Amino acid sequence: GKCAGLQIVCIGAGYVGGPTMAMIAYKCHDVTVTVVDISEKQIAAWNSDTLPIYEPGLDDIVKERRNKNLFFSTDVDGAVEKGDIIFVSVNTPTKTSGIGAGRAANISNCELVARNIAKVATSPKIVVEKSTVPVRTAESMGRVLAANEKGIKHQIISSPEFLAEGTAIEDLLEPSRVLIGGEQTPEGHAAVQKLVDVYEYWCPRERIITTNLWSSELSKLVANAFLAQRVSSINSISALCEVSGADVDEVARAVGTDYRIGKHFLKSSVGFGGSCFKKDILNLVYLCESFGLHDVAEYWNWVVKMNELQKERFAKTIVKRMFNTVTRKKIAVLGFAFKADTGDTRETAASDVCRFLLEEGARLSVYDPKVLAEDMERELLYAKCEKDQIDQQITRVEDVYAAAKDAHAVVILTEWKEFKELDFDKIYSVMEKPAFIFDGRNILDHAGLREKGFEVFALGKNK
Ligand code: NAD
Ligand code: UGA
Repeated sequence: GKCAGLQIVCIGAGYVGGPTMAMIAYKCHDVTVTVVDISEKQIAAWNSDTLPIYEPGLDDIVKERRNKNLFFSTDVDGAVEKGDIIFVSVNTPTKTSGIGAGRAANISNCELVARNIAKVATSPKIVVEKSTVPVRTAESMGRVLAANEKGIKHQIISSPEFLAEGTAIEDLLEPSRVLIGGEQTPEGHAAVQKLVDVYEYWCPRERIITTNLWSSELSKLVANAFLAQRVSSINSISALCEVSGADVDEVARAVGTDYRIGKHFLKSSVGFGGSCFKKDILNLVYLCESFGLHDVAEYWNWVVKMNELQKERFAKTIVKRMFNTVTRKKIAVLGFAFKADTGDTRETAASDVCRFLLEEGARLSVYDPKVLAEDMERELLYAKCEKDQIDQQITRVEDVYAAAKDAHAVVILTEWKEFKELDFDKIYSVMEKPAFIFDGRNILDHAGLREKGFEVFALGKNK
């Protein structure tokens, strides 16, 4: 192919760097792809039989290309030295202190990487900003790259990633679009073209959108803000459905059938989670504020606020329905991941619902098919659950029926497919009565469950 012999490097071997680079290696056999990270543990896992992230289809692709044209290493400098195109896919979490704490994105990892490239590189590089960043981050990175002592001219381009967890491989195989932004100069256009050539190995050219740098950076934040806004919009309507007799799933269908609105992303839930929606909207909010656009900032901030309210509303409903007390009651929590088909717990709505129930004195028995115990605990602590409450009131079980045994309620927090196929007669028989089910994802057959004797609460349904 066009890119034969090209050396691609990616700094940051996480949820984005790993799968994205595996796909490039899988589709471009004549390109060498090296993924590096400062975390030895992360790289060791990528080189082992148990990859550091669970993603359907990922194992096969990695196993097929690893040590052929796909390498994982901790030798960051060595990789930078030989790379032609260097992706930067490091984490950019919300700042926890200092200016913009709680809202602004911390881009120090990006700057560190740029400084390192400037120091180590002995030939011109195309540096691709793959991390999600505030608008104009490419400007700072570009200046840091330009300030190298050898007088080398590197190019910075922006190519944000749109994959969703749980469907990363599908999304990478057939992306709705690939976005590449670059400087509006001949060198900038040439750098963009280099990356277009790589993606053209498998993506139709019309799906590759090229823009200027700032449009590319901003489009990533806007795409996530629009997606999250749809979830908050339908969740706000779920509250209205519960008091008015409308059914949120029927409303979503009726509304979404209008092709101008579209049917996707209108599933009411206990709240959106994931490492990016909240972070990226807050990033957008902070950006607006820093340009003095306070009303625009407030508009987008409500998408996050509505999400916080939805989690709280769901947790309060549980307590209210269970005769206003859950103290010492056992509650089976089914699902802890922020969505199905991933083991990722970052910003999961489950941790806030659990914190609320812990504070009410409930005993929680949590089952999730993919979440690791350590990730669950870390996320609960991050959501400000008390350590002693976690230790004393939460047990993690490997089996749904063990979770349900003697429980007063079953609470669905993640839409795992296996929850639809459970033996609810068996669950009913081992639970305390009245046996409550709170379906935070509207995935169960509510009428059928009521027939079996359950007291069912479903989001956005007036029952
Ligand atoms: P992650 O935390 O899973 O991975 C980031 C990796 O970067 C970590 O392994 C970390 O050790 C490494 N790292 C940090 N600083 C480094 C340095 N100086 N040198 C080398 N390695 C370093 O993060 P992620 O979920 O892959 O997200 C990465 C970026 O992509 C973020 O900006 C995120 O907003 C964005 N994004 C994420 C998703 C997603 O689904 N998770 C989707 C699209 C975009
Ligand atoms: C999201 C975007 O979909 C990706 O395009 C983007 O690249 C990524 O963020 C990112 O920047 O990190 P992801 O967070 O992995 O991907 O998962 P989504 O499928 O978007 O779900 C996010 C949350 O919204 C989940 O908690 C999900 O359960 C919830 N959701 C989604 C709903 O509650 N209802 C819906 O209709 C859709």
